[in-house]
Amino acid sequence: MARVSLASGVEFDSEPDVPILLSGEKHGARLEYSCRTGRCISCKALVLSGVTTALQHESGLSAEEQGAGWILTCVRSADSDVVFAEDNEIEFDLPRAVIVPLRVTALERVTEDILVVRLRLAPSACWDYVPGQHVEIIGPNGIRRAYSLAGAPGRHSALELHVKRYPGGELSEYWFGEAAVGDLLRLRGPLGTFVLRESDRPLVFLATGTGIAPVKAMLEHLEQVGPQRPVTVYLGVRTAAELHWKPPAWPAHWDFVPVLSRCDRSWSGRTGYVQEALLADCPNLAAIDVYACGSDAMIRDARRLLVAAGLDPRRFFSDAFVESAPRVADE
Ligand SMILES: Cc1cc2nc3c(=O)[nH]c(=O)nc-3n(C[C@H](O)[C@H](O)[C@H](O)COP(=O)(O)OP(=O)(O)OC[C@H]3O[C@@H](n4cnc5c(N)ncnc54)[C@H](O)[C@@H]3O)c2cc1C
Ligand code: FES
Repeated sequence: MARVSLASGVEFDSEPDVPILLSGEKHGARLEYSCRTGRCISCKALVLSGVTTALQHESGLSAEEQGAGWILTCVRSADSDVVFAEDNEIEFDLPRAVIVPLRVTALERVTEDILVVRLRLAPSACWDYVPGQHVEIIGPNGIRRAYSLAGAPGRHSALELHVKRYPGGELSEYWFGEAAVGDLLRLRGPLGTFVLRESDRPLVFLATGTGIAPVKAMLEHLEQVGPQRPVTVYLGVRTAAELHWKPPAWPAHWDFVPVLSRCDRSWSGRTGYVQEALLADCPNLAAIDVYACGSDAMIRDARRLLVAAGLDPRRFFSDAFVESAPRVADE
C-alpha cells in the first residue's frame, strides 16, 4: 500500500493497480475529474516525488507535460509513496453516484444533428445532482456514454440531455434511429466536478455545440438563487443552422454572444472562435471566472490563449466532451 500526499497536505492510502483518483475517493479525498479515461486532463497532477504507473494511455497529456512530471490521476496508480506539488483538490462534497432507472418522455430533433431528450426518474427515486454535472446513460446492450444534464435540479424528477449525433456512434444509432417515448434506460451518476465555485467575480461561459447543456443548468441555477453576478455566454457553432439554443427572457445584465466559425454571408453576428471573441471583448481577464465546455480543441486553445493573456489558471474550469472509452477501473 502506498501513501499519496496532495499539495494541501491531505494524505490517503492508494491500493496497487488502482487509479490514485479512485483510491482518493475511497478514502475521502476529493480531486477534480470528468472523463476518467485519461483524455480530458481535469485530474492532472504534478508529481514532486514517488513512482507511478500508467494503467491506461494518458492521451490527454503531451510528451512535454509527461516529461515535466505531470500525470493523470484517473489512470495512474502509485507504486511507492507519492507527493504532489500541484493538483486539483476540491473543497466541497458532491452527491454519490448511483444507478437508477429512468424513462424517455420526449425526443425533439432541434437541428440536423442534435436531439433534445427528456427523461423522467421514478417519482420515488431519491436522486440529486449539482448543476454542471453529467451522467452516464446505460443504453441498450449496456453501452455507456457520458451526457451532461441540461437543467437545474428539482423540476419534477425530469432530466434533459442535449445529444449530438456521431456518425456510426453506438449510442447515436440508438438515439437517432430507435429511441422512442416510453423506453426504459438506466443512468449512473451524478458524475464530474464541473460545478460553479463560490465567487462574486463576473462569470464567462464558453461553450461549443452541445457544450451549452451544463451551462444551461448552471444558468438556471443562477437565476433561481438570484442573478447578481454579471454573466456572458459565448456559444460557438459552425453555421447558424447549428445554433440549437438561445437564452429565454434573461436578467438585463446577462449577455449572449453566438459565434459562427464558418463563413456565412447572411450572418451579421460574431465570427471565429469563442475563445478569440472573449479575448477581443474582455480587457481584464484577471478579474473574471471562465467555465468552458464542449470540444476538447476549444478548451485546450481557450486555456492556453486566456491564461497567456492574464486569466488566473485557477479561475478556468472546464469539461471536455471527449469521446467515450473503456475505463481502467469501475468505481
Ligand atoms: C463529461 C462528458 C460529458 C459529455 N456530455 C455530452 C453531452 O451533453 N452531449 C453530447 O452529445 N455528448 C457529450 N459527451 C460526449 C459523448 O459522451 C461522446 O461523444 C460519446 O462517445 C458519443 O457516443 P456514441 O456512442 O454516439 O459514439 P461512439 O460510438 O463513442 O463514437 C463513434 C465515432 O464518433 C467519434 N466520436 C465520438 N464522440 C466524439 C467526440 N466527443 N469528439 C470527437 N469524436 C467523437 C468516435 O471517434 C467514433 O469514430 C460528453 C462526454 C464527456 C466525457
Ligand atoms: S483525464 Fe482524468 S478525468 Fe479526464
